[in-house]
Amino acid sequence: RIAGPCSLVIFGVTGDLARKKLMPAVYDLANRGLLPPGFALIGFARRDWADQDFAQIVHDSVREHARTEFREDVWQELCRGIRFVAGDFADEAAFDTLVETVLDLDRVRGTQGNHAFYLSIPPKFFGDVVQQLKRSGLSVSADGAWRRVVIEKPFGHDLESAQHLNETIGEVFPSGSVFRIDHYLGKETVQNLLALRFANTMFEPIWNANYVDHVQITMAEDIGIGGRAGYYDGIGAARDVIQNHLLQLLALATMEEPLTFSARDVRLEKEKVLAAVTLPEDLDLGTARGQYAAGWQGGEKVIGFLEEDGISPTSTTETFAAVRLEVDTRRWAGVPFYLRTGKRLGRRVTELAVVFKRAPHLPFSVTDTEELGQNALVLRVQPDEGVTLRFGSKVPGTQMEVRDVNMDFAYGDSFTENSPEAYERLILDVLLGDPPLFPRHEEVELGWKVLDPILEHWAESGQPEQYDAGTWGPASAHAMLARDGRQWRRP
Ligand code: BG6
Repeated sequence: RIAGPCSLVIFGVTGDLARKKLMPAVYDLANRGLLPPGFALIGFARRDWADQDFAQIVHDSVREHARTEFREDVWQELCRGIRFVAGDFADEAAFDTLVETVLDLDRVRGTQGNHAFYLSIPPKFFGDVVQQLKRSGLSVSADGAWRRVVIEKPFGHDLESAQHLNETIGEVFPSGSVFRIDHYLGKETVQNLLALRFANTMFEPIWNANYVDHVQITMAEDIGIGGRAGYYDGIGAARDVIQNHLLQLLALATMEEPLTFSARDVRLEKEKVLAAVTLPEDLDLGTARGQYAAGWQGGEKVIGFLEEDGISPTSTTETFAAVRLEVDTRRWAGVPFYLRTGKRLGRRVTELAVVFKRAPHLPFSVTDTEELGQNALVLRVQPDEGVTLRFGSKVPGTQMEVRDVNMDFAYGDSFTENSPEAYERLILDVLLGDPPLFPRHEEVELGWKVLDPILEHWAESGQPEQYDAGTWGPASAHAMLARDGRQWRRP
């Protein structure tokens, strides 16, 4: 799967995402031989740079963040297609220069009129940029060439703003040309959830309310908000992670088998389960939110959220969010799905744990089975990618004592191929025009329908509960599971 002739235009190349993920991913794709000869990369930003200055920025970000080895010949070839256009997002003259640049690239690099526009910029500028792309004629192409637009979350801050944003984009690009990034879908381990479920026979028969006690989806980070106060304050953990990454994981874990792996079929199944998500009746008891206070992390003293640079000392933005959801379908009726995410937690880990019901009867004495928990299948998304199956096993000896053991699959042990970074896969799919890994607007809307009532409830609940940095979140999150007679896993 090698992309055909094309260019990638990145708006917002001075941002963190472009520097740490996008530009290195482009280089890695080139290095793996997945970009076409003559590929071009155009940066667009408010900087007084020449092409060489931008090429130097790309070079530095590649040297620092690329996954694959640096090869001078690959770099030199990529470099020949690097251009920079300086300007403001509403600046007509800059977009006219962009038109000249792509026309020139069509001639000298053979990009054949195929151009993808990656908006790695705050959503408030989406309108300006797409309108300029329309005015300058860049949004449409002649002679069967394609134009695509790539957008990054947040897709709005609630249902209404998401719909508005979608209309703004939809005025210029048809829905089939809009690629919405949820980088979790680009992760190998997340895609593997579908392989695990639908390429095997042994999991699917027990993947339902008859056998599953509950499911825990955790996305924990040890980092604080770093330099992202401007983005994060007012957004918070639920909008930042639950609305997209965690609900996508929930959808992949609960959906029925799609007819085929076409974008249409996969999205259809995901949308069905997202539409079936129900919220707890009492939002006080069925959700939890917190804000990290100062504490210790990795042997270092760290400051609290309210002391972070750029955060208002009275901010009510949550840095931890947990919610208990159900999926109201025959397969899942009555099974709780506990989702949690937070910054400055015990460690960086993302996992999806399917916890099974206890055996209906044990022929062993209770004392011998004290250490026997519930069976669990844990999909380790990161950092230690793999799958763990936990079950009871006889302890060697003369007694019939049973204890939990783990059976592990680790990517590193089973595969010699190394995993591409999520953005590599997603950028390649954009250039190939392959949409299954990109959520449709409908999925975004369904996500907001789940989240809006929770956010409205929290908006009236004052200050989030504090938790010490380096711990596993506020007491209310633990109480939420304890009320159900369960507890959070300690990954
Ligand atoms: C992003 C969030 O979508 O995902 C960030 O905006 C978060 O707040 C990041 O840090 C985590 O991504 P990953 O791939 O490191 O789990």
